[in-house]
Amino acid sequence: KLPTNITIIEVGPRDGLQNEKNFVPTDTKKEFILRLKESGIREMELTSFVSPKWVPQMQDAGDIVDSCLTSDSRDFVLAPNKKGVDRVYETGCRAVAVFVGVSSAFNQKNINKTTEEALSDLEPLIAQLKDRGYFVRACISTAFYCPYEGKIDPEDTLSLCKRFAGMGVDELSVADTVGRANPLEAYTLFTLLKKELPGTLLTAHFHDTRKLALANILASMQAGVSRFDTSAGGLGGCPFAPGATGNVATEDVVFMAEEMGIETGIDLEKLSQAIDVVKPHISRSIESGYYRLYELN
Ligand code: HMG
Ligand code: MG
Repeated sequence: KLPTNITIIEVGPRDGLQNEKNFVPTDTKKEFILRLKESGIREMELTSFVSPKWVPQMQDAGDIVDSCLTSDSRDFVLAPNKKGVDRVYETGCRAVAVFVGVSSAFNQKNINKTTEEALSDLEPLIAQLKDRGYFVRACISTAFYCPYEGKIDPEDTLSLCKRFAGMGVDELSVADTVGRANPLEAYTLFTLLKKELPGTLLTAHFHDTRKLALANILASMQAGVSRFDTSAGGLGGCPFAPGATGNVATEDVVFMAEEMGIETGIDLEKLSQAIDVVKPHISRSIESGYYRLYELN
């Protein structure tokens, strides 16, 4: 059984750009975000309040948030720690994404903390955010595989998801950080999470390293998931997850869904025009099937 409509959470301005070596001009990022919203995107990760030493591309995060928040969209900002959350409080942003991997080895590389250290830092921050009425999303990295530890046991992913659900997060975004999962693994994990976490919004976040992301999305839909993190142009990758390439391309997911009669609310022509804005500043080619044909026509 498939959903009648799905929700796209656009992560291009954040996951898509964070790994780009050359700094994308702030005005280009703003125009990209504006055009994405014009295409019908209603949930988006705008940027991250992380250390600019660790991720220089996100150094203009405050400016991006101040310029790009709109009332017709749920605009997320990533925050790894208290300093990040305090920066959120200085803005009008009302939706925060925290992030922790199932794998401690990954967390050491990505946030310089073990999983337990990250959880004990985040617990009071999440409680305070919820008290103040914020929407909180928890991004669960390395939910299937870790670039350092290999295959992850679905029970370990479930147990981290339960910890966050217990802290009262609104949404869990469960990620195949390195693009290593197959559709059977996607179906199995999301069936388990749906059953065990009925009260929390569940979102799937696939990277497309091995070109299985669309198949994984279809399998996740069959497991009852109807929210997907995607990135315009298929840009993306975590600087601390070696070997990972971009997120699944928004335009390919929208195309697949709409062709199947599953509504997304997104206009593919306008979405492609948003990619046109950022493409000249991107160091690698845009490989999504839909965008390549758009460029030829
Ligand atoms: P640390 O070096 O252990 O932190 O980094 P620290 O507390 O010792 O601080 C070091 C310096 O950073 C200090 O500055 C702090 O003020 C500053 P200094 O005194 O040296 O000038 N600092 C900050 N500045 C701005 N905003 C902040 C902040 N925090 C500290 N929030 C830290 C620890 C977590 C900060 C660092 O490791 C970090 O920023 N990591 C972020 C890595 C990242 O952004 N990764 C990509 C996002 S996750 C992802 O892509 C996966 C996802 O897509 C799902 C999936 O696919 O798996 C979500
Ligand atoms: Mg990611």
